[in-house]
Amino acid sequence: MNLLTDLAQALGEANVLIDADQRTSYEVDWTGRFRGRASAIARPSDSSQVAAVLAACRRADVAVVAQGGNTGLVGGGIPRDGSVLLTTKAMEGIEIQRGQLLAGAGVPLAEAQQAALSLGERLAIDIASRDSATVGGLLATNARGAHAFRFGPMERQVGGVEAVLADGTVVEDLDGTDGWKKRLAGSEGTLAVITRLVLNLHPLPKSVTTAMVGFESIDLAVNAFASLDPSQLEAAEIMTRRSLQQVASYFGIASPVDQAAVAIFEASGANGLDLLAPVLDQAAASAIAQDGSERQRLWRWRHAHTEAIDALGVHHKLDVRLAPDRLNELCAALERLPAECFVFGHLGDGGVHINAVGPDPADDSFDAAVLKAVAALGGSIVGEHGVGASKSRWLSLSESPDWIEALRAIKNDLDPDGLLNPGVRIPDA
Ligand code: MLT
Ligand code: ZN
Repeated sequence: MNLLTDLAQALGEANVLIDADQRTSYEVDWTGRFRGRASAIARPSDSSQVAAVLAACRRADVAVVAQGGNTGLVGGGIPRDGSVLLTTKAMEGIEIQRGQLLAGAGVPLAEAQQAALSLGERLAIDIASRDSATVGGLLATNARGAHAFRFGPMERQVGGVEAVLADGTVVEDLDGTDGWKKRLAGSEGTLAVITRLVLNLHPLPKSVTTAMVGFESIDLAVNAFASLDPSQLEAAEIMTRRSLQQVASYFGIASPVDQAAVAIFEASGANGLDLLAPVLDQAAASAIAQDGSERQRLWRWRHAHTEAIDALGVHHKLDVRLAPDRLNELCAALERLPAECFVFGHLGDGGVHINAVGPDPADDSFDAAVLKAVAALGGSIVGEHGVGASKSRWLSLSESPDWIEALRAIKNDLDPDGLLNPGVRIPDA
């Protein structure tokens, strides 16, 4: 049997997409910078169908690339060289079990957040692409978002997982005792296909105070953040002037706060405003919201960054981590590069998003220059979006040879034939 017949037999013909117009949206990522070609799009709806897809691909010696909401920004879920693209989107549905959510890997984050709210609780993770990004993809990249500095990355929001290994074994570790959620967090589809997740719930804060706060320099914003107790905060985000002005031009209205560095700080509880008082005292300008829709209005300035900068066309997007007190130096180094850089991110955990317009999207030497600047400042080139296909060759800039060897050893152990997402995350030996 050939591969397509095998897949159709396992999933039904309707769940094997082979026409070019059906494949297109899966073959290019959100950035428009990473493109590939799949021999088919497979839409399994549960772990046994995933195992059947992997078995068919193994027989045909064709690689498998798993893709969630296709909101990844590092080319990690893009098919290459005629591989089979396994979309997790048909793995839907949320059940409530013992005060936790059991969700299919293809459930969008926003749907899981709503399910938590319907129980009077919440998930302690939020990202701007919540309507499309899937919970499985969030674990595969170990996404962080706005609340990670307080509640940890996606791994900490997950109680357990079900996944299918390259050899077709279904591992069911929904109570997390076998350590699979930890092993698969950040594995970017290279070790297994995640099929279901148990999501942890947190109490919903009764009231939240959001402050958008302007400072005359990045260092002043960083120092102000240092005067707060992070364990009392919900969020600490930063936007630099050029990127916030791009959002203002995209919205067609002026930002309520418009200094060299603008932060969003958020604290929960009746005393939220008191908790934020130290930064408000140091601010050049501020806007404060406690009502839900007013808070959302302030957050739009931060959450719209990706779409506003995307409106400038295909560009370079780099996602790194850096000690907040080195951010000013990084911005100065970026200004010396031949590009217009838009910098924003998560002040709380040092997550920095660098978007650059100017260099040809195919010019990888620009990415190398940025990543070298980050490494020279003691930062990590691995941020919250994953390593993907775009950064694996530079992993040694910030990760130790021992760590990279350990990644290779785990990969060889779990997927000796290199069936799952080859070329992603782990640099070639
Ligand atoms: C964000 O923090 O807004 C996201 O990680 C998306 C991005 O970097 O574009
Ligand atoms: Zn981010």
